[in-house]
Amino acid sequence: MVAVAGRVAVVTGGRRGLGAALVDELLARGVRKVYSTARSAYIDDRPGVVTAELEVRSAESVAALAELAADAEIVFNNAGVLLPAPLLTGDVENATEMFDVNVFGPLRVARAFAPILAANGGGALVNMHSVLSWLAGSGAYGASKAAAWSVTNSLRLELAPQNTQVVGVHAGFIDTDMVSAVQRPKATPAEIAARIVDGLEAGDTEVLADDVTVAVKAALSGPVEQLTFSAAG
Ligand SMILES: NC(=O)c1ccc[n+]([C@@H]2O[C@H](COP(=O)([O-])OP(=O)(O)OC[C@H]3O[C@@H](n4cnc5c(N)ncnc54)[C@H](OP(=O)(O)O)[C@@H]3O)[C@@H](O)[C@H]2O)c1
Repeated sequence: MVAVAGRVAVVTGGRRGLGAALVDELLARGVRKVYSTARSAYIDDRPGVVTAELEVRSAESVAALAELAADAEIVFNNAGVLLPAPLLTGDVENATEMFDVNVFGPLRVARAFAPILAANGGGALVNMHSVLSWLAGSGAYGASKAAAWSVTNSLRLELAPQNTQVVGVHAGFIDTDMVSAVQRPKATPAEIAARIVDGLEAGDTEVLADDVTVAVKAALSGPVEQLTFSAAG
């Protein structure tokens, strides 16, 4: 259970989308400092915000962030990428990039920050997955989020001895650039960010951030044919 007031947090991909909403939510709840990253330098001059460049595909870039943010107590692995394409005919490089950003990126961040979280009392690691971790039909993106879910669950075990709370987050569509081309009902980034921080502060290990995600998780024991993107409505 980690209350964010007075804490130091890191939000990867905090310049825009859900990451920006997480930064806003953390500031509203009294975080002492939040490191917010983007792939290029940018300015956020609100008190308590420290911007930093981060490319999660680069171990050197992740190491530089860890050096800068050595006082971090809560790390949000939010940065992610969606390059939609079928598995059979899509560009293999795009599939590789999605795994590198969505799976190995958060793992690089977790490896770099684990000793920092340990030194600062345990803290928390929050990893962003998707309802598509569980649903077929979004090609390599869903596959990467399924892998990310598994990574998070094993990290929870590996980080337990140092008392780090590990939170896996699953959500349906959120109204950000990532899904601007998708014509479906979407949650606002602000409401999802609030649910994530609520779960963190309540000591949860998993956040199911909306109703569709709750329904899909409940359907996991049912027929696999129903675990499809289109069946999720
Ligand atoms: N939107 C949805 O419907 C939805 C649903 C469920 C889960 N999610 C997940 O929620 C997270 C946030 O998504 P979003 O909707 O806010 O997406 P978004 O609007 O496309 O923003 C993506 C963020 O990730 C950062 N990023 C992308 N590639 C990166 C890289 N290689 N290195 C470092 N940072 C990188 C971007 O930074 P720059 O500013 O530098 O581009 C940006 O801040 C992702 O993990 C996504 O998979 C999204």
